[in-house]
Amino acid sequence: LMVKVNFIRDTETISVDMPVGRTIMEAAKELGLPEIPADCGGCQACGTCHVHVDDVWCDKLKITENSLEQSLLEYEQGYIPGKSRLACQIQLNDDLNNVTVKLRKHELL
Ligand code: FES
Repeated sequence: LMVKVNFIRDTETISVDMPVGRTIMEAAKELGLPEIPADCGGCQACGTCHVHVDDVWCDKLKITENSLEQSLLEYEQGYIPGKSRLACQIQLNDDLNNVTVKLRKHELL
């Protein structure tokens, strides 16, 4: 089963179909998005897969309070409570078809 994942960069939307069970970080890698280098390969250590969840998806993609993910994100540039997530910690399921996240500007771009 495939679900569609959308990334917003300014006014542009970039989409890819991914199998359920993969992560949003893996979707970004599939597209080769430079904003998500995902240096640690998804083990919740680098913070380089930080995205802002689109408003309509924030409820569904709430971060677990006091999680390792949250403690990492709190030190990240551009952290927004309720919107910031590590893309490698969002696993795709049927409910997430058409999920949309915003890419953050990358200093190296
Ligand atoms: Fe490193 Fe997500 S890829 S924290």
